[in-house]
Amino acid sequence: MKTGIDQISFYTSQYFLDLKTLAAARGVEPDKFYVGIGQEKMGIPPPDEDVVTMAASAAFPLKEQGAFEGVEALLFATESGIDQSKAAGMFVHGLLGLPERCRVVELKQACYSATAALRMAMGLVAMKPKSKVLVIASDVARYALGSPGESTQGCGAAAFTVSADPRLLAIDPEAGFYADDVMDFWRPNYLSEALVDGKYSTLVYIKALLESWKQYAAESGRSLNDFSRFCYHIPFTRMAEKAHQKLAKGTSDEELKKVIGESLLYSRSAGNCYSASLYIGLASLLDNAAEDLGGKRIGLYSYGSGCVGEFFSGVVQPGYRDALFAGQHRALLAGRAELTFQQYEDIYNYGLPTDGGDHTFAQYRTGPFRFAGIQGHKRIYGSR
Ligand code: CAA
Repeated sequence: MKTGIDQISFYTSQYFLDLKTLAAARGVEPDKFYVGIGQEKMGIPPPDEDVVTMAASAAFPLKEQGAFEGVEALLFATESGIDQSKAAGMFVHGLLGLPERCRVVELKQACYSATAALRMAMGLVAMKPKSKVLVIASDVARYALGSPGESTQGCGAAAFTVSADPRLLAIDPEAGFYADDVMDFWRPNYLSEALVDGKYSTLVYIKALLESWKQYAAESGRSLNDFSRFCYHIPFTRMAEKAHQKLAKGTSDEELKKVIGESLLYSRSAGNCYSASLYIGLASLLDNAAEDLGGKRIGLYSYGSGCVGEFFSGVVQPGYRDALFAGQHRALLAGRAELTFQQYEDIYNYGLPTDGGDHTFAQYRTGPFRFAGIQGHKRIYGSR
């Protein structure tokens, strides 16, 4: 029985900062960001948008198509947790009207957790092939103002259903995975922005890739030539390009563009979406590949700082284009509002009130759902 991703939808905030604007404000050459980092824009969430509203907005198109029929679990991957106890997925369960007979849990291991969720989902579906699992990864990438990480911020969510006989991607059983207890990137509970040892993090990302690939190749007997395309975790698009050049040494610029270029299009505009980034890359590839990828195998590399890496693969299913949300994704990115530098800093500094009082948030542009405020220490969500 084939098991894998049946449909995938993504969402990012309705606001972005152009990295040329950031470059001007920070006295940096724009090409450092556009070329050196490979990012053009970063999604910035307004005060009434968070991982819950982005997650629900990402999954809403699936609901509209009746994709929740048979869903028995919602696995919510994030490293931007909103509560120490209650899973963010519970709020999403409510907003989306998911069935009461549904397991809901939150998973964390930096940007890797959505891949752990995918593997767990496949196990649940294998035990009960008529059931489905909804996986949602949602994150806000936030670093200190003026820090080297600032240009690699972003936000977004990816929602996908995992089922038997999937329409998009049948996941292969083979995988290579690697864990090492390192401090390359982390966020203590008392901080709202991540701390990172930037250069070191890029080295660990590559080391985990090479170790994961080595295992995957030994287990599957496949070589790099067996893949039509590759999708990487995308903290910034240049990182994915560098990773592929390390894995497939001697890759020409033309070949690099062919095998990963289409997967980078959405991230170049949304910025880092942590746990969702790899899956936004997958949506970008499937939506934008000019070639029909039906029957072709793609390689995927998931990386979560701290760290866990996993290389795995899947075969794109014939007719997959009929199950995509490509038009909606392109319209979302094209319809966003650009922030001035002052607006960006104001939103950044607004933060989330932590005084324990009641707050009502001003209405900004969001998807179908919004984070309306806080009352009695409870987050209040609603429809737009
Ligand atoms: N034109 C073209 N390129 C330029 C340029 C110009 N005018 N000016 C600089 N560059 C190039 C540099 O040569 C460099 O290229 P190389 O890496 O090929 O040498 C590139 O732009 C970046 O410049 P710096 O190395 O000077 O950049 P920096 O030190 O200021 O910051 C960073 C880079 C360390 C990645 C920083 O953005 C950061 O800390 N980001 C957050 C951490 C991160 O994303 N790590 C990725 C791996 S960890 C992970 O994947 C998990 C996760 O999601 C966080």
